[in-house]
Amino acid sequence: MLENPGNPIDRRIDEIRREFELLDHWVYLNAADQTLPGRYWLSAARRFYDFVEAGRMEDTPCADVATHPFLTPAWSESIARSARFINADPDEVTNAYRPTMTANLIFYNMLEWEEGDNIVCTDLSYPGYMYVLQDIRRRYEVELRVVRHVDGAIPIELLDAAIDERTKIVVVDRTAAFSGFTFDMAEVCRVAHARGALVLDDAFQALGALKIDVRADDVDMLMAGAYKWACGPEGAGIFYIKKELCERINPRFRNYVWCDFPGAIPFIEPDHDNVRSWDHPPVQTANRFSQDTVIGPALYGWIATMKFYESLGIANVEDRIRRLGTYAIDRLREVGCEVKTPDDPAQRHGLIVYTTGDIDRDRAFFNRCAAPGRCERPIRLSLRAQAGLGNLRISTHFFNTKEDIDALIDLHRRMS
Ligand SMILES: Cc1ncc(COP(=O)(O)O)c(C=O)c1O
Repeated sequence: MLENPGNPIDRRIDEIRREFELLDHWVYLNAADQTLPGRYWLSAARRFYDFVEAGRMEDTPCADVATHPFLTPAWSESIARSARFINADPDEVTNAYRPTMTANLIFYNMLEWEEGDNIVCTDLSYPGYMYVLQDIRRRYEVELRVVRHVDGAIPIELLDAAIDERTKIVVVDRTAAFSGFTFDMAEVCRVAHARGALVLDDAFQALGALKIDVRADDVDMLMAGAYKWACGPEGAGIFYIKKELCERINPRFRNYVWCDFPGAIPFIEPDHDNVRSWDHPPVQTANRFSQDTVIGPALYGWIATMKFYESLGIANVEDRIRRLGTYAIDRLREVGCEVKTPDDPAQRHGLIVYTTGDIDRDRAFFNRCAAPGRCERPIRLSLRAQAGLGNLRISTHFFNTKEDIDALIDLHRRMS
């Protein structure tokens, strides 16, 4: 059923769409690439600079409503809300910049490699972390085991068969960027943990689209940015690490801000010594891994984004995304397109990859979407291919409507 009057997003859709001004100009089916800017976070990010301009940022902790740029209470508010977003404890979450930065932190600076170790990933894994893993393979002589998809899906039995006692970590995209295949992360963790392997969940294409529960799934680490399905500002994101691991891993990355002093930061102590006073390990929370790369406007914007999400309800978001995704798949098939994303709703959400059956026609369609005829709105989608799957990718987000998908289908009809 396409309409669900029981879903408050359906009832409030016009008001919700007004948060995204560019929807007046584009048919926007491209959240998997990047979100549209939302008024809620744009105004929050601007408020940050108003705050700075008004001289409210101080470097003396607790002297005023804010403190030093990376020591504002916004840092911990963002962590508390991010933790709620994925059902983690705030101690298990820190603010993070792009997943590529987090991947570099994890693979080079958190894990210890021994020759003969292996890493299990898939041919649907995002190239951003695969590029890092290729170097890890060469540098430490570890094996990279790439599990191949079958008709756009990674069967859990194939993943299971690739894992053994020398598997250090299993790395998967919760939702694959170039196919839309979505893992049952609880199953991935079950098979990995049975052999003592860790699981890193790249949830960038799922955060903000699906309800994520790291505790129920038992994932060890999760990374995601804010600027795709989560509809937040570029520069914000989440790094989650399970509590037991957090305490066990001593990163080869030090951020003095997170030194675990017995009292306050020793700058004002008369006997402050730059060696002795700092001879403490980092804090025991996920902040011990913080690179502090999330700056004020992104933090403010991300907090506003999570408040916005809390008002929508992630279950309502997911429900609407799924309904629109199913509608898009059905209509694409009607006009003769071949959908590469798995049919099974348990294995996908609204990230849909398809083809007209011919790469040149796909490209022509993509170009026409970008430069439509007179008085038509451009349709924003992506041209993407990986592991034999492609070439057109759409994203049906909560702010999309049936009419958006109909506009896409209408253009396919006219171009066929
Ligand atoms: C699943 C996934 N992981 C990681 C990335 C990389 O993001 P960034 O370039 O911001 O690090 C992307 C970007 O598309 C992605 O889709």
